Amino acid sequence: MSSTVASTAFAIAAVRADEALRSPSERLFDDPYAALFAAAADAEAAEGTRRFLDLPFFRDGIRLRTRFIDDVLREALSQGISQVVLLGVGFDARALRMPELASPAVARIFEVDLAEQLETRRSLLDAAGVAVPPSVARVACDFDAPELEDTLTAGLVAQGFRPGVGTVFVWEGVTAYITRASIDRSLAWMARVAGPGGRVVFDFGHFSFDPEGAQEVIRRHGYCAFEEHGMDELWRRYLPGEAHENAWVARMGVARAS
Ligand SMILES: C[S@@+](CC[C@H](N)C(=O)[O-])C[C@H]1O[C@@H](n2cnc3c(N)ncnc32)[C@H](O)[C@@H]1O
Repeated sequence: MSSTVASTAFAIAAVRADEALRSPSERLFDDPYAALFAAAADAEAAEGTRRFLDLPFFRDGIRLRTRFIDDVLREALSQGISQVVLLGVGFDARALRMPELASPAVARIFEVDLAEQLETRRSLLDAAGVAVPPSVARVACDFDAPELEDTLTAGLVAQGFRPGVGTVFVWEGVTAYITRASIDRSLAWMARVAGPGGRVVFDFGHFSFDPEGAQEVIRRHGYCAFEEHGMDELWRRYLPGEAHENAWVARMGVARAS
């Protein structure tokens, strides 16, 4: 794969693969599939990964957001959420690695990304002999496409998605790569289809929603509640020691649709 936005997923997989090298007491999550994805990076993607890893706070930021989203997902599942949509799934292996998602009776999972990325993901799992559970569906979509809402709804519904039934949307590592207009349209669309108890968990930058600010934008798009956490706060929750000085700029949000 060339050095496209899709190849950024290799850097995330590399960080998740390294988590296995930590002692069990230091690990924030277990992702036994990350290494197979990380190992498939070509020279260009590997160079991109090296550049990402050189960025201050990149590695711990990925670790923290992975764990935070896992916890949000567990809580939502324990409250009866029955659909999980992983928007921009990349090499996110939650459908395979989280025991809470292993039972098809619990939730149907929809993995959404660019067609090329989904194909890369599928071929790597196939080559490694990893069987994907029947509760997992794949839906190709470009979030910047002009007909985003119709395409995404139709693609999901064709795979069994039920609009208006309690859904968690995981939108991890994506808002930095799509336009502000696509972010706004995606947020409004998710608020419309998320159903009772539905929510969106996502990462964003402190300045992403300027000039209004995240709270105001989220409310305007139809959500009834929004909790926001700086990575400095999540650092204190999950990691030892002092937070990186710039950690507050990276943020996690949980927007509740009802
Ligand atoms: C940094 S990766 C994050 C992957 C995954 N969510 C994770 O955290 O492991 C960004 C993902 O968003 C996808 N993506 C970026 N722009 C997109 C777009 N316009 N439409 C669909 N997917 C997109 C990429 O293909 C890639 O898989």
